[in-house]
This record gives sequence, structure tokens and C-alpha cells, in this order.
Amino acid sequence: MKTKSPFRIGRPVRGAYFAGRSEETDIVEHALRNPDARLLVYGGRHIGKSSVLAEARGRLRAQGLPAVSVDLGGATTVADMATRLLRTSTAQLRKVWKGIGPALADRLGTQVSLDSDPVTGKPTPMLDRAARAAPVEAQRETLGTVLDALEAMAADQGAVLGLGLDGIHDVSRFGGEDAEWHLRGVIQRHRNIGYVLVGGDETSTEGLTSKDRAFHGFTDLLHVTALPGKELAQWIDGRLKEEGIKTKRGVGREMVRLVGPRTGDVIRLARKTYDLARGTGLKVRPADLARSVDEIVKELSELLSEEWSHLTGRQQNLMRALAAGELQPFAERVRRLYDLRSSAAVARTLELLTQKGLVLKSADGYGVVSPYRVRWIELNALTDLSRAAE
Ligand SMILES: Nc1ncnc2c1ncn2[C@@H]1O[C@H](COP(=O)(O)OP(=O)(O)O)[C@@H](O)[C@H]1O
Ligand SMILES: [Mg+2]
Repeated sequence: MKTKSPFRIGRPVRGAYFAGRSEETDIVEHALRNPDARLLVYGGRHIGKSSVLAEARGRLRAQGLPAVSVDLGGATTVADMATRLLRTSTAQLRKVWKGIGPALADRLGTQVSLDSDPVTGKPTPMLDRAARAAPVEAQRETLGTVLDALEAMAADQGAVLGLGLDGIHDVSRFGGEDAEWHLRGVIQRHRNIGYVLVGGDETSTEGLTSKDRAFHGFTDLLHVTALPGKELAQWIDGRLKEEGIKTKRGVGREMVRLVGPRTGDVIRLARKTYDLARGTGLKVRPADLARSVDEIVKELSELLSEEWSHLTGRQQNLMRALAAGELQPFAERVRRLYDLRSSAAVARTLELLTQKGLVLKSADGYGVVSPYRVRWIELNALTDLSRAAE
């Protein structure tokens, strides 16, 4: 049976795959349309920040308005960011601004050549290979020059260009704080671009907007938090029903309870549940969901066990404690139970694990990131501890 899943994972979602968030989408859409706008969107990972941007851009695109959203995250050099911006802009604006590839190449002169895009085959301005090896100041200039070229094109067209720059925290990671100031300067002088910057989690955004840093007071802020559990649960129940999956009451709610609150984690469970149920004709009960979770953990198992094997003994012990639900790893009882040594050692290890993105501090205390990772540890590593220790 060939039906398409109503749930998507692994990349930002929009349209029929996008639940709720009309307020956030309105704010981002407004910023993309407004040449004076500078908006910084932030929030935890897998919460749905990039999806809000994708949905807002989709609204502009549906009206034939120029809008680009480019993911700078994971680019290793500032030159790579310039390349991504060039390629993505050319691809996404091709319909609204005919001949954009050659026009951009024209403006950028000798720094770029017109090549066929490796994916689309369409003529696309590409940066000189040497740009990657250039000093970082030169790379910043290049990124600025590409943004200037887009600004000039928008001015020529008498249009406002909506530009979403996702993964903005990597600009400072690879370009240094000077790159933030440089970007700020470029953005500040543009009169035809509505900027939406999408940052990382609260911690990196606190850094980016702290006093003395470039984005302090420079942008409006939009904090994206997890979709309210009730709303997400209802949306999932509705989508399952539309696709002909019968459910007992409370299936969506149980998904949120099991793996919430992060939107991405809940949608992953919904997708797996749909996959397991379709074609069977059986009614899905809340009690069936634990099996979907374990199915997901099995699929992720290779990656998770490899990740685990790269942790030091002390890191593993701390992960065990947190996965077992210990929120206060500094407590003497916990340190003894999990061989965690001194409080100072715990503090250092927590810091490292947080940097790796494996641990997150919340209002309740410390916790392992991702309910699937927690379950994997429960199944594969907590079992190492002998009961006698308690
Ligand atoms: N509004 C939404 N409706 C449905 N699914 C969503 C929504 N927002 C996020 N998701 C799910 O979460 C995943 C991560 O979303 P994404 O927007 O990439 O998060 P972030 O940018 O905050 O890391 C998506 O791939 C999708 O499965
Ligand atoms: Mg994102």
C-alpha cells in the first residue's frame, strides 16, 4: 500500500506537515516583508524554529514575493556560508527574478564564475575555490559582498527581499566575534532586505545578544518554545484520522507524555506509529506506543552505541545517572551510586557533555538530551549497574 506519511522528520516542515504556530509564523512573515525588520529567532534544538521560517517563506512565495531561506549551520568556513547564500538565493529566486544567476555573477565580478549547479544544473554563480583558503577577514568581506549584491538586486527590482539566515550562531563560531560586527554593519546599511536570523539554543543566543556583543539590542527577538502539548496531540490525532488510521482516545496525548516536549521528538514517534499501523487495520491504543519508541531506539542504536563508545568512563557514568532520572548529580548519594567522584569532577563533566549537546540544563535540573537516547541508555547501559549498589 502506497500512502504518504502525514508526518515528516529530518528537515524543516511546512504546509500540511506544519502544526499550529500561527502567531510565530505571522511575526516571521511580517519581518520578511519589512525592509526595516531585523528579527532574531531562537529556542532549543528540534523545537521547530527552522520550520517556522520555512512556513513563513512559503507564504511569501505563494504570493510571488522574493524570499530566501538559507541554512548557514554546519558550514565550516565563512566562505562556505557565502557559497551557500549564493547557491540558495539563485535557486530560490529563479522564478521571481528571471536571470538571477547571471545577474548576480555580473555584480560580483571576478570573485565568482558562472557554473552549472551540481544539483539543479542551472547556471549559478560560484565562488572561486581559493576563497575558502583566504584569511578570515577576506572571507567575511566576501559574505558581505554577496549580501550587498542581493540588496542591490532588490533595489533594482523595487522590491523587498525577505532573507532568512538560519544557523547564525555558526557565523561567530567560525568567523569570530568580528564576523558578528561585520554582519551587523552590512545588515544595518541595507534598505531593501527584511532580515530574519535564526540562532541556536538559549545559551548561544544569550551569548550573541549579551552586552558588548554585536547583536545586543540590534534585533527584535522571537523565542520559539515547544508547541503546547495539547495542541500538538490534537493535531497528531487529526492527521492520523485523516489518513485512515483508527485510534483509541488519548494516543496523541500519550505520545507527548512519552517523548515530549520537543516537537521533533514527538513527530518522530507519530511517524513511526503511523508506519507500524498503516495497512494493518488495527486500532492504535496508547499502550502500543512504547513499542514505537523501542522501534525508533533500535533504528538509532548503531549511532547511539558509537556515540557512547566515544565517551570517557566518567562521562558514561554521569549519563547513566541522568538517564536514570537523577536531576541533581552533585548530591553525595548520586555521586556514590554512580562512581562520580568529586563535585568539581561532576561540574567539569557536565560542562563537556553540555558542549557535546548530550546534556541540557532545564529548570528542573540536568537531563540527557533526547528521550530516545535516554531509552537507549536504559536498555543498554543502566543494566551494567548491580542492584547491590543501592
Ligand atoms: N510546527 C510543526 N509541525 C509539525 N512538525 C514540526 C513542527 N515544527 C517542527 N516539527 C518537527 O520537528 C523537526 C525539527 O524541526 P525544525 O524546525 O528543524 O527545528 P529547529 O530548527 O528548532 O531545530 C521537524 O523535522 C519536524 O519533524
Ligand atoms: Mg533549525
